[in-house]
Amino acid sequence: MAEHPAYPVGLRLSGRRVVVLGGGQVAQRRLPALIAAGADIVLVSPEATPSVEAMADAGEITWRQRRYQDGDLADAWYALIATGDHEANTAASAEAERRRVWCVRADDADRATAWTPATGTSAGVTVAVLTTDARGRDPRHTAAIRDAVVEGLRDGTLVAPHHRTRTPGVALVGGGPGDPDLITVRGRRLLAEADVVIADRLGPRDLLAELPPHVEVIDAAKIPYGRYMAQEAINNALIEHAKQGKSVVRLKGGDPFVFGRGMEEVQALAEAGIPCTVVPGISSSISVPGAAGIPVTHRGVAHEFTVVSGHVAPDDERSLVDWPSLARLTGTLVVLMGVDKIGKIAETLIAHGRSPKTPVALVQEGTTAAQRRVDATLATVAETVRAEDVKPPAVVVIGEVVTVGPRPAP
Ligand SMILES: C[S@@+](CC[C@H](N)C(=O)[O-])C[C@H]1O[C@@H](n2cnc3c(N)ncnc32)[C@H](O)[C@@H]1O
Repeated sequence: MAEHPAYPVGLRLSGRRVVVLGGGQVAQRRLPALIAAGADIVLVSPEATPSVEAMADAGEITWRQRRYQDGDLADAWYALIATGDHEANTAASAEAERRRVWCVRADDADRATAWTPATGTSAGVTVAVLTTDARGRDPRHTAAIRDAVVEGLRDGTLVAPHHRTRTPGVALVGGGPGDPDLITVRGRRLLAEADVVIADRLGPRDLLAELPPHVEVIDAAKIPYGRYMAQEAINNALIEHAKQGKSVVRLKGGDPFVFGRGMEEVQALAEAGIPCTVVPGISSSISVPGAAGIPVTHRGVAHEFTVVSGHVAPDDERSLVDWPSLARLTGTLVVLMGVDKIGKIAETLIAHGRSPKTPVALVQEGTTAAQRRVDATLATVAETVRAEDVKPPAVVVIGEVVTVGPRPAP
């Protein structure tokens, strides 16, 4: 059997009986994919690992709690033989052969009639890697090839454009707080497939340098807007490029819908009849404090966190934030765009009941090489920001969570 290469095929197992013999580690690893394929799974085994047992409890598989016996493969289309008993495995694979059921054998690949490839998925595609014969089988090597292909597709270093399905339009991609590793897998793939990228000042700017030369990169901050508002000019640029049939990525810092004006762009595109995909991003409001050792919640300390914009002062009539109510809360306050107005914000919180001793941290340029953290209290923060020359972009964290982590190394 091993002289010829294996023939690769994709089994469509939905509603079809698959028999798994043995409830140990092999079953535990293989069952999730069989469940995902919709197979009607019968497990025959006197014991099972806690994870396999949980699958039976959840009704995802039927567990016959006994040893294998002849006839167990009667209705099977496919079998996975993985008991710890070599004799039982041999008897079961003989039954599989007799009944013409394709079978995988965990203990003896040479005697199996099917092999499980190393698999991974990326954007709706399954990558499956098989060695050509049983003697050359090297599971680590096939897994490494699988990882290289899947990772390459995910992070965009292996570019496989969707020639048939790729629809021109706009992807609104949340790029995360700044570290290029903190964009989502989907965001990075769409970036790798883009013809045009319109990028903000914040976010993973380093990724732009990796784009191939034919990709047009437009700095959103530099779009000339003449008599238009800047946002309208950006909307128009998105629409114009998409109308030319190009794949456009609008790369934004953090998450597009957290103080990112993302929905305004979605609305403008919808009005223009342009398809738009939104890819969430890691918001700086949680990740930047986290990168500086500050959890936004902590058991016994803070059971809530509130994210607010500090771009207008509390006494400004345009402010939509109810600062007096926030002052009465005991949880964490995360203020974005608040560096310039931090003095007024701290004053208002103290005036409405927050202790002047409440710890405050400012994290500037979080997750980048220039990240720095400055600590203060509500009483001292305005002076500290001046003395330490803290500049935007920075996230301000107010609350007891600031002091729960280990102190950062000096
Ligand atoms: C217009 S808001 C956009 C927020 C973004 N959509 C998000 O989810 O992170 C910009 C503000 O986010 C914060 N910010 C974004 N990236 C940051 C970073 N890497 N370090 C510190 N603050 C950051 C700053 O408060 C900045 O003024």
